[in-house]
Amino acid sequence: MALTGVLRPGHAQLRVTDLYRATHFYRDVLGLVETGRDSAGRVYFKAWDERDHNSIILREADAPGIDHLAFKVRDNATLERLEGDLRSWGAPIERVPAGEMLATGRRVRFEIPSGHRIELYAEKEAVPYAGQLQNPGPWTAAAEHGIAPIRMDHALLYGPRVNDNLALFTEVLGFYLTEFVTLPDGETKGAVWLSCSIKAHDIAFVEHTEPGRLHHVSFLLDSWEKILRAGDIMSMNKVPVEIGPTRHGITRGMTIYGFDPSGNRFETFCGGLQSYPDQAPIAWSWDELPSGLDYPQRKLHETFLTVVT
Ligand SMILES: [Fe+2]
Repeated sequence: MALTGVLRPGHAQLRVTDLYRATHFYRDVLGLVETGRDSAGRVYFKAWDERDHNSIILREADAPGIDHLAFKVRDNATLERLEGDLRSWGAPIERVPAGEMLATGRRVRFEIPSGHRIELYAEKEAVPYAGQLQNPGPWTAAAEHGIAPIRMDHALLYGPRVNDNLALFTEVLGFYLTEFVTLPDGETKGAVWLSCSIKAHDIAFVEHTEPGRLHHVSFLLDSWEKILRAGDIMSMNKVPVEIGPTRHGITRGMTIYGFDPSGNRFETFCGGLQSYPDQAPIAWSWDELPSGLDYPQRKLHETFLTVVT
């Protein structure tokens, strides 16, 4: 099946407690490209090789976390169809008009069972760098500024009712389950990885008592060497690193987790499985969760299960 419905995670709007420090981090340490600021004071970024205007938006607030995660859909007809399907499913819908965010068309916002705000949109202005669409080179000067990921790739969200999220994303939004962890009862899914593409996941959820929590937003790099370089840059800038560099058992991605200056966790990763919707999902038992998280060390890092924003 060609990609026809939900295409990919398009943008995440993050809350930060110090916009100046956060802007320095996302622009100069993580190495995103600043693309604009709006009248509400939000700062917009894209990864250097992304084409659309923004993928990370920072909003200053009293507490860190995620305001919403938005997915780009194929076109306006798809957006209208999915809005109707969400209404039929019983999701409360809020329409956000075009222009509320810079360079972004109308959005369909809804709250999912875990308490997160998810949005769909069809239109965002493309702002390719000079030469990106005509005989481009493989990288640019911007690809050498900071960690410089290729794209914002996925998010992991913590909240209750993960299995209701699973139903919504698979039955209404066209995602499919790629991997899951069962709780000690051996049956109940406590964590799910979901794809709308051939990626190992476009979004993932872990069961958690508090609704609406952000675990991490993840950024794609293209090699293990770039992961090690990212670790060097984190240390040079005294970024708190939580885990890695290492490899996950789940998804097989190679990874580092760290925290932005407001305490929001982020991930830089490369590699991992590719998925297809006809393949059965991979199951992980509770006792193998440590190797699922950190395969070489087989270690269940306590903070990974408890620290969220
Ligand atoms: Fe991740």
